[in-house]
Amino acid sequence: MEDPWQKPYDFAVSVARKAGAEIRKAGESEIKVCTKSSTVDLVTKTDERVEKIIIGSLKEEFGEGTHCFIGEESVAKGESCILTDKPTWIIDPVDGTTNFVHGFPFVAVSIAFAVNKQLEFGVIYSCLEDKMYKARRGKGAFCDDEPIQVSDVKDINKSIIISEHGTDRTPEKVKKIFSTMQKILCIPVHGLRGSGTAATNMCLVATGAVEAFFEIGIHCWDIAAGAVIVQEAGGILLDVDGGPFDLMSRRMVSANNDVIAKRIIKEIEIFPAERDDAPVQKKC
Ligand code: IPD
Ligand code: CA
Repeated sequence: MEDPWQKPYDFAVSVARKAGAEIRKAGESEIKVCTKSSTVDLVTKTDERVEKIIIGSLKEEFGEGTHCFIGEESVAKGESCILTDKPTWIIDPVDGTTNFVHGFPFVAVSIAFAVNKQLEFGVIYSCLEDKMYKARRGKGAFCDDEPIQVSDVKDINKSIIISEHGTDRTPEKVKKIFSTMQKILCIPVHGLRGSGTAATNMCLVATGAVEAFFEIGIHCWDIAAGAVIVQEAGGILLDVDGGPFDLMSRRMVSANNDVIAKRIIKEIEIFPAERDDAPVQKKC
């Protein structure tokens, strides 16, 4: 039987590469910064332009109306963030916008594709490093066409863990984030890290450079492509309470194995984050 998703997968890789080249070029000129949900939730013209390029290219290739799109900047402008059974592209045009603005060298284009609410493939182009990560469900994970594999470390004392603090500076949340980090650091682990892009963090789990990455407050576009890449590299995804991973829940633990994941989960202080697919409240 013909493989229906090979063409979209190959096309996603080429679109991600094109988008990454745009980001690199834009980084050479002055970057004008605006804010979204808070004064530290940054957005630039490049985020918006690159998302338009990606969605425009996909519509041109696959026909208007055949596929659905969940893109970070389109959702910010009021478009739906509901994942249905229809073929759906989940896009973060510039993951690591704060890094991009500051010239911190990790910025990624993240493109995932889901059908019947199941992720079929994920492509992450770490465009400043020029590394192309990709995975298709059931077909393995790759970096620049070389197979990648999570680490086999089971001893938490020999691990490196990634976490991020996101863009919500509500003092109670920040307190819980740092309390969790302190507890994990004191297990002790070899180190705590954070690249400033959830997509890249997940690639670091997938290549075995770190054992786990967890965060509360991320969005589906930050982690959808990474979810396929981590699983295809032999890793696992869980909710922060140890239950099943839910793409729209804004909480996730990705790890090399369940021993490491469950040990981290013991220390995570959970705080509320509104789901990506929560009904939109009408403004008065
Ligand atoms: C952010 C990055 C960051 C994570 C935040 C995300 P953005 O995405 O992935 O690592 O901590 O939760 O919102 O805003 O750079 O696209
Ligand atoms: Ca993002």
